[in-house]
Amino acid sequence: MLSKKKIIASVAFMSAAVLGVSQATVAQAAGVTGKVEVFSWWTSGSESAALNAILSGLKKSNPGIEIINAAVAGGAGTNAKQVLATRLAAGDTPETWQTHPGGELKGYVDQASVLDLTALYKSEGWNKVVPKGLVDSMTYNGKTYSVLTGIHRANAVWTNKAALRKAGVSFGATVTFAQLEAAAKKLKAVGIAPLCLGDKDIWTAAQLLEETLVGELGAATFNNLAAGKASWTDAKVVTAVNHFNTMLTWANSDHKALDWTGAVAALAKGTCAMNVMGDWAYGELIVKQKKKDNIDFGYTVIGDPKTFVTVGDSFVIGAKSKNAAAGEAFAKAVMDPKVQIAFNKLKGSAPYRTDVSTASLGSYQRAAAKTLATGTLVASLVHGQQLVAASVGQAFSDGVTVLQANKDAAAFGKAMNAATKG
Ligand code: GAL
Repeated sequence: MLSKKKIIASVAFMSAAVLGVSQATVAQAAGVTGKVEVFSWWTSGSESAALNAILSGLKKSNPGIEIINAAVAGGAGTNAKQVLATRLAAGDTPETWQTHPGGELKGYVDQASVLDLTALYKSEGWNKVVPKGLVDSMTYNGKTYSVLTGIHRANAVWTNKAALRKAGVSFGATVTFAQLEAAAKKLKAVGIAPLCLGDKDIWTAAQLLEETLVGELGAATFNNLAAGKASWTDAKVVTAVNHFNTMLTWANSDHKALDWTGAVAALAKGTCAMNVMGDWAYGELIVKQKKKDNIDFGYTVIGDPKTFVTVGDSFVIGAKSKNAAAGEAFAKAVMDPKVQIAFNKLKGSAPYRTDVSTASLGSYQRAAAKTLATGTLVASLVHGQQLVAASVGQAFSDGVTVLQANKDAAAFGKAMNAATKG
């Protein structure tokens, strides 16, 4: 007996044959056509492989679509965000672009440059499979504006297992600064740079400071600091900032010449031992460096291992784009459960749809997905996810540049107090 789907398909084929239309035309008619420009900053080995998983899903359901991958290189969107701002100002709007939920997405909503996707969430039933807290992070005044590809965890310390072994160091699920300091001493003694850093772009150093602050002060205090409800000149904050200053002295000597992927490559090689980086580094270790989870590399967390610093990646549809229907088709491809697993496996982020199985993912990713569902979530300031003015994130990043030169934790605190309370 033919299934309902098969009957529909064969009826479509029969009527096409009657009309003398080729099968290929029937297939094309099944999806959206025209151009779709997909704008992101995903150009590293793992990032582009993961993006391609979405693009192939999109092409599969829309064979007639013309995909333009408009990714602009530069980790964390350093260059892409500027290029996009210029394009939006000039009315040259891509169909869809990458943005973090929270403050960054709100910026586009406030400028009225993105479409309201609330109706799509309803008609596709996405509200039922995306945890409410995550939908909320993309919702302003009751309207939801983006679709998530996955949620990255920013606060991981990646370790080269062989390097640690050589130095006689081992870590559990959590580390304190004192333990890191003791490990650094041992690593230096065997000629290995304790810290892998690639701060050609300042955000990587800023992220090291952010994860140190979250780890040492806790999620609630970090949120209060970002919101201007706690003082950045508090003694505990100054101590954590000084720990960051100390950690910088452990870095590989070429750190200013490398970007985040360079630091991951150095970690994979074992010339340095620990890299504080979001789990896009996991994707890069697996996909680009061909390393094995829990064999070649391990991970730990500064402070509470149940704390998960979120860096969600999401896509919007440009309000003034030429082909919003293609933007919508892209959003549907992102939300496809199969695409979600394929994408996250390569990207290192945690899938979040409640109806997908994480069984095919590596042990780190399965654990991260669990922590995402049950742990304490705190939005990353460095990656624009804290719901604060963009100027606060900018002040943090500028403050880190100054800190690298003067090591003055108190002056950093004063500048941040001015930025968050101003
Ligand atoms: C983050 C983004 C991640 C990863 C990283 C490095 O901002 O959320 O997906 O791509 O930048 O480029």
